[in-house]
Amino acid sequence: MCGIVGYCGYRDCSDVLVEALTKLEYRGYDSAGIAVFEDGNIRVEKSQGRLDNLRNKMLSDGKPEGTTGIGHTRWATHGKPSDVNSHPHSGEKVAIVHNGIIENYKELKDLLIEKGQKFLSDTDTEVVAKLLGFYYKKSPMNPLETIKNTVARLEGSYALGIVFEDFPDMIYAARKESPLIVGVGKDEFFIASDVTAIINYTKDYYLIEHGEIVEISKDGVNIYDEHGDKKVKTLLTADWDAEAAKKGGYPHFMIKEIHEQPDSINTTIRPRISNGMPNLEECQITLDKIKDFKKIFIVACGTAMHAGMVGKYVIEKLARVPVVVDIASEFRYREPIVEEGDLVIIISQSGETADSLAALRLSKELGAKTLGIVNAKGSSIAREADMLIYTHAGPEIAVASTKAYIVQLSVMYLFAFELALAKGKITEEECCTLTQHLELTPSIIHRILSENLSMPQFVATKLAAADSLLYIGRGLDYALSMEGSLKLKEISYIHSEAYAAGELKHGTISLITDNMPVIAVATQEKLLEKTISNIKEVKARGAMVILVAREDFKIDHEAYDYLITVPKIDDVLMPIPAAVPLQLIAYYAAVQRGNDVDKPRNLAKSVTVE
Ligand code: F6R
Repeated sequence: MCGIVGYCGYRDCSDVLVEALTKLEYRGYDSAGIAVFEDGNIRVEKSQGRLDNLRNKMLSDGKPEGTTGIGHTRWATHGKPSDVNSHPHSGEKVAIVHNGIIENYKELKDLLIEKGQKFLSDTDTEVVAKLLGFYYKKSPMNPLETIKNTVARLEGSYALGIVFEDFPDMIYAARKESPLIVGVGKDEFFIASDVTAIINYTKDYYLIEHGEIVEISKDGVNIYDEHGDKKVKTLLTADWDAEAAKKGGYPHFMIKEIHEQPDSINTTIRPRISNGMPNLEECQITLDKIKDFKKIFIVACGTAMHAGMVGKYVIEKLARVPVVVDIASEFRYREPIVEEGDLVIIISQSGETADSLAALRLSKELGAKTLGIVNAKGSSIAREADMLIYTHAGPEIAVASTKAYIVQLSVMYLFAFELALAKGKITEEECCTLTQHLELTPSIIHRILSENLSMPQFVATKLAAADSLLYIGRGLDYALSMEGSLKLKEISYIHSEAYAAGELKHGTISLITDNMPVIAVATQEKLLEKTISNIKEVKARGAMVILVAREDFKIDHEAYDYLITVPKIDDVLMPIPAAVPLQLIAYYAAVQRGNDVDKPRNLAKSVTVE
């Protein structure tokens, strides 16, 4: 959470920092701030709330004038969102921005207070600023030594952007756990939490690794390891451009990203299909390598975990291998029975989610093989997993995940087909047919988006005033309902729960009244009759029922109030097209309610704290 940036070059630094922060607001938007060298002094401007507050403040105060500085957008952890808790924070002759959590901040703060330091904020970050100031006094005019001494005392995670008053043309940075890149332009350099922030200026960047310290001047970049030795690193190039991170005429990133889903699936699966069959060799996955796994865990958070739920149903059905799906924050502390010979799949858009990363590390310690399904190139999970399948969704800016989910699903399918083949549970012919169906999903989504927008939009108007609703489904439809429900609640703020349709009558059905709309998903032919019976049970008790069903199903009109149809494809693949109307319902409900769709309250996109 939190986004950091830094600039050192020839442009108007305040403008560059604010522009870059706009791209990082998805990481948190409780406050924003910048520190810029102005006439040789560090001038800090910061403000609680969205970046616009900072912009407005600088319009009235005048923005700092200079060409070197650092900036921050915050997702509050220590201390409530307020001006005083906003970054940058200052120590003696130093100002910093920070993404991460300093776990031993209390102990360090007490020590510094004993030494006479005064603190203004409640943040862990100010402790780092004061500690830097403290060590700078011990090693005057030596920023590298100061940073080395300071980070040696820190426990937890950090990506730090640092400016020292005595070095007005330089910025420094350090990283442990939290992501950090250094952007390399012509006569200008950047630091940022991710490439999105700086893509307008350059596509070339260095990925900063744990323990590294960065020193940037107008003339170049030096990167040091934890012992202070210079490192030579490979310059990477982002494989997408600035256009990908713009709204492109859509009112919100979320709806743009929903529309990008056909392309995202194509880009993700095409390189992994050869001669009509899945081919994951470039991901170090071969039939031989996966044929002996007897147990699989899928561990992830939120939407990524929901992609894992679909994966479980598909893998178990096709490959007949038992799959346990776990929430990463639970998995890591429940002493999971993971052993050598097991496979643990970690799914993550950002590749930096703290709990998912910890689950990956734990699984490796326990002797399991790990497979990462990750969108962000070069992220921690991508680098640490034994096997890796990148999803190619491109940058996902809206906080609510849509296209990243869809490509996670598409990869789960490819993997399930390959595993089923490796296990001898499906023939090559069956595998080929399933793969063909997967290849059809982009055009089906395209059809939904060009023909079927009005019904989800209309239905959203019916839901906008609801306080609470239920999603129900069976089998894969239940797995998909979980994601539908999360999407709705996170952006529309309407409470909702997903229930296995057959489980309702064991308690939850008592909630059903004419004030409790129900969104029912019915795409599975074998389960249709049973699901319809459950739908009728809620309808009979007054619920308004919105039914999302396969278009060829003949369903009694009495069973629903509104019907959204989804084009037919093999049942096992139905979650891919059926996800789209659920995303649309959530989107339009949030728009109806006047919410900030792309930046829902209290959330951040990259959850790098526990
Ligand atoms: C919801 C959403 C979150 C993320 C979760 C995991 O729309 O985006 O639930 O799925 O925070 O994030 P990643 O995939 O980055 O590990």
